[in-house]
Amino acid sequence: MHQGEARELTPSPPRTETPARIVIRRIRTDEGGVLRDLRLRSLADAPLAYGQTLAEALAEPDAAWAEAARSGARGARRLWVIAERIEPDGRRTPVGIATGRRRLPETLLIFSVWVDPTARRRGVMRRLIAAAERWAARTGARRTLLWTIAANTDALAAYHALGFRTESGTEDAERGAAFAALALSRPIGAEEA
Ligand SMILES: CC(C)(COP(=O)(O)OP(=O)(O)OC[C@H]1O[C@@H](n2cnc3c(N)ncnc32)[C@H](O)[C@@H]1OP(=O)(O)O)[C@@H](O)C(=O)NCCC(=O)NCCS
Repeated sequence: MHQGEARELTPSPPRTETPARIVIRRIRTDEGGVLRDLRLRSLADAPLAYGQTLAEALAEPDAAWAEAARSGARGARRLWVIAERIEPDGRRTPVGIATGRRRLPETLLIFSVWVDPTARRRGVMRRLIAAAERWAARTGARRTLLWTIAANTDALAAYHALGFRTESGTEDAERGAAFAALALSRPIGAEEA
């Protein structure tokens, strides 16, 4: 037997895929383009989930995205948080996004949650929301509130898995009712409990 054949017959060790690392961070002041790209991807992927159409988002001028990034990158009122996948060659691909707004005194409002289909079911949304809650808790937030349309059963299941409960009979529940949206909330700190 030739050496080459012997090598071919030697069973190769099982391949272990190293899962790509995903990092969560606040958007930077100069990342209007990143914000625009993530928002357009989310609207193309889930057109009914956000109360805005892709055409409306495409019509937004660059200055509006730049301003949104600037205001979400600093301070205690607004936050954009993104998830980036570190590719094997070191490039960073944005794969998730959420925005938080403080409603004083005690509430964090969350909007625009989206995770790229290639990065789902790996805890990215969990980490995006947790990052926003840590940010909001520093200024006294004690509960997180968001709305989702009742037909979005995947998102509802995901929020329920994270301990969000549907509100009923509150002003916040009423606000969503006109859009067939359900209000969901959870206490901040529920994840650590
Ligand atoms: C909803 C969405 C953001 C979830 O993102 P994700 O990163 O896959 O969620 P996570 O991996 O952090 O999952 C968090 C929990 O929800 C559960 N979950 C996530 N997607 C789920 C689904 N489709 N069905 C049931 N449970 C689900 C996960 O299993 C996990 O629970 P566990 O820890 O008990 O296993 C993502 O599917 C998405 O972007 N969908 C399209 C846009 C959208 O609907 N956004 C919400 C607008 S309100």
